[in-house]
Amino acid sequence: MTRTSVRNPVFACEACGAQAPRWLGRCQECGEWNTMREERPLQEAGGGAPAPGAPPVPLAAVDPGAAAYRPTGLAELDRVLGDGLVPGSVTLLGGEPGIGKSTLVLQALATMAESGARCLLVCAEESKEQVRLRAERLGALHPNLLVVADPALEHIATWVDETSPDVLAIDSIQAISSAEVSGPPGSVAQVRACAARLVALAKERTLATLIVGHVTKDGAIAGPRALEHVVDTVLAFEGDRHHALRMVRALKHRFGATHELGLFEMGHEGLVPVPDPSALFLADRRTGLSGTVVAPILEGARPVLVEVQALVTRSYAEAPQRSVQGLDAKRLTMLLAVLASRAGLSAGRCDVFASVTGGIRVRDPGIDLALAIALASAQWGVAIAHDVVAIGEIGLGGEVRQVPQTARRLEESGRLGYRLAVVPPSAPEVPGIALHRVSTLEETLAAVHPVAGTGSGQGRPDGALTLVS
Ligand code: TYD
Ligand code: MG
Repeated sequence: MTRTSVRNPVFACEACGAQAPRWLGRCQECGEWNTMREERPLQEAGGGAPAPGAPPVPLAAVDPGAAAYRPTGLAELDRVLGDGLVPGSVTLLGGEPGIGKSTLVLQALATMAESGARCLLVCAEESKEQVRLRAERLGALHPNLLVVADPALEHIATWVDETSPDVLAIDSIQAISSAEVSGPPGSVAQVRACAARLVALAKERTLATLIVGHVTKDGAIAGPRALEHVVDTVLAFEGDRHHALRMVRALKHRFGATHELGLFEMGHEGLVPVPDPSALFLADRRTGLSGTVVAPILEGARPVLVEVQALVTRSYAEAPQRSVQGLDAKRLTMLLAVLASRAGLSAGRCDVFASVTGGIRVRDPGIDLALAIALASAQWGVAIAHDVVAIGEIGLGGEVRQVPQTARRLEESGRLGYRLAVVPPSAPEVPGIALHRVSTLEETLAAVHPVAGTGSGQGRPDGALTLVS
């Protein structure tokens, strides 16, 4: 049941946006129960074919000036956006309730207001008084920052006409609604119609528009997958509620790369940028313990050092546990299998726990080698020296492979005082940090534990630097 195959859809799933020509008790696409709601087709809702716009012109004749960036003034957010918001574009900021979306938007608007942009905040979830209280705490009161508490979509264009802002922010898309569309605020029909109107408004008035959207537990922006297609940029605001760390990533970005990560810490005075994340992630590190090693991972263009920890204990359960935090569970399973079959280190009847500290989620395969070393170190009770890092991806054959930007990762490690790096054979030399090259997992394990491993090499040949403490 795809969207295109349905000619005249009148029912849409509130959970995933799938459409069907008749009511169904269970959505055939996402399997959710009782989520199908009647939806009026767009034409009825006042859509219709638009009038033709400007005629085609040669691409070279298009003025690129219109796509200039407007910095939000929050460096970590601008890093993700590739310099700021683009006038006429729509950016969706998605995140779980309570993660800090309203705070981020208010801080960004305040900074832009301060630098001369007229900003209009439509707060549809909170009263103006509540927003004012928060703004006071954040030092975000500026005459250029206007606020209106009005959840009616039709009024937004009026307020935009009256105040002609440069930046418009809607908090949130689930709280506004159009009188022309049936269904309560937050329903797929409402969210989709409101988003379409806001996108049109942004283009008509060359408005940089920020839309806040709540995300459900499983990560989908409530209701509309379709919403992600109509906006220019989709930002995910994530973080572990129990940590102060907050991360902004671009899931989609029409004006630049999507691999950058912006980091903030939620404090008493709002979100504080974290320009040096390595220092944060390694702040409370205890050295001399087995099962831990540092890995320089890549987050966007930025190398970040994180601590990888492993714990391997005898299991009393029928099926031994495999548990991860901040890492990919499948990756751990794969590494355990490769360790067992290629390097003879089996975690057999042991529970295995692996984590990356600090609340970050690592997707970089360059963490493999550090994870393998942490697992071996934990299993043997051998502590890795405090000034060692490991970089490399591990293949199914047990081979250690190079990962992108190894030189930059080594430089960052050297900058933070690390003196020895375990790396694949092809890694480049970088001043300030010694390399211990390993081509296989077997060689790696031999360096961690010369007796249990198969070789005798420990640390560097001159003995000045060793892998273990
Ligand atoms: P909020 O921006 O309201 O989240 P969202 O819009 O995503 O639902 O932020 C909610 C949480 O952030 C709330 O639990 C309180 C916390 N917070 C701080 O810790 N410090 C602050 O300065 C602010 C404004 C909020
Ligand atoms: Mg909010």
